[in-house]
Amino acid sequence: MQAFTFNDGVMHAESVPLPSIAEEFGTPTYVYSRAFIEHQWRNLDDAFGDYPHDIHYAVKANSNIAVLNVLAQLGSGFDIVSAGELYRVLQAGGDASKIVFSGVAKSRSDIEYALNSGVGSLNIESTAELKRINSVALELGKTARIALRVNPDVDPQTHPYISTGLATAKFGISIDAALEVYQLANSMANIQVHGVACHIGSQITTTSPFSDALDRVIDLVERLAEHGIHIKQLDLGGGLGIRYANEQPPTPQAYVAAMLDTLKKRGITLPVAIEPGRYIVGNAGVLLSRVEYLKTNTAGDKTTNFAIIDAGMNDLMRPSLYQAHHNITAVDANSEASSSRLLSHYEVVGPVCESADVLGSNRALAIGAGDLIAIESAGAYSFVMASNYNSRPRTAEVMVDGDCTHLIRARETMAQLIEGESTLPSK
Ligand code: LLP
Repeated sequence: MQAFTFNDGVMHAESVPLPSIAEEFGTPTYVYSRAFIEHQWRNLDDAFGDYPHDIHYAVKANSNIAVLNVLAQLGSGFDIVSAGELYRVLQAGGDASKIVFSGVAKSRSDIEYALNSGVGSLNIESTAELKRINSVALELGKTARIALRVNPDVDPQTHPYISTGLATAKFGISIDAALEVYQLANSMANIQVHGVACHIGSQITTTSPFSDALDRVIDLVERLAEHGIHIKQLDLGGGLGIRYANEQPPTPQAYVAAMLDTLKKRGITLPVAIEPGRYIVGNAGVLLSRVEYLKTNTAGDKTTNFAIIDAGMNDLMRPSLYQAHHNITAVDANSEASSSRLLSHYEVVGPVCESADVLGSNRALAIGAGDLIAIESAGAYSFVMASNYNSRPRTAEVMVDGDCTHLIRARETMAQLIEGESTLPSK
């Protein structure tokens, strides 16, 4: 399924033409498709067949409460990394018992909030954290269900900023040290050992890193069993890649089959959990933006065409932070005005005062000032990473559902920009 398609030369989100969204809500605006989000979640869920499994959507990918609510209605669980994400999931109607709380730096108050809310499991990333969780649970008179997040030292062959499973990463507990930490956990009065968790990285486009990591996790599960510690669930994290340009990521069927085949080969029948983020929402969204100006700069015999748009690196940080590629498409390719447009190659840049404010480089586009463009694959790690740099209010977010359009986050106002700030008293 595709969330965004051309119909009569105009790009639509499901049945809604993007120009009508720009007219009603202005630009830049993130636009998401509900049907696509549901389709992706169901695809993964179906791929497991009747093998026991849980899907914990990684909230960090897109944490708008409408997105979370759509997934909660499907029965999804959630992977969170902060108290703020826990608050969002609960506000969106998520089931606390289907939440796993990951993250390397949980504070005492994060842990209290999680235990008082009844989260399903805490994924622990260090011995010090295990001790803190046990002591908070003791104070609250509760038992904390936990998994250790182990580091299987597998190279996911993705961008270094989003590789997390190497031995040198700050994440997780080295798999070789895990037995000792499990023994400590098992001896603690207010800790209930439940699972093993790992997450090796993001935007992974082959299945082998997943099966390699799982193999190493199964080695650990077997070693633990020899020591009388019986694991009840394997949490394999997120990481399934999507197509931004020409990538050929595994289908959900191939991804799940790689895991289930490994389990079968090793004679393991334990329930599995996964934490997909990008796969569910990445291609469910675009950033809809308008061309403000075109200009050409010449240096010696080199000329550069710029398309200056109203969205910047503060709205979509991935291209400047990771050199990530997002396709950029003219929204109204067949409009009367666009028939007179000439195809040129552009540096697509934003309004932010930084040379890194480039949303796309060397893009062939037939556009003019005032035209709408869609920056694609912007449903994951896009709005959530936005900032107010250059005092730019954060964009609106809209979700399309069939032929209905819902504003799911209003554009920030100037007043909101300085909310909470104050000047000093006069001297
Ligand atoms: N579970 C854990 C513990 C994670 O750290 C992550 C992502 C996920 C699940 C979800 O991974 P996914 O299925 O979305 O690949 N900002 C970067 C991505 C950072 C991913 C961080 N962790 C980007 O824009 O590419």
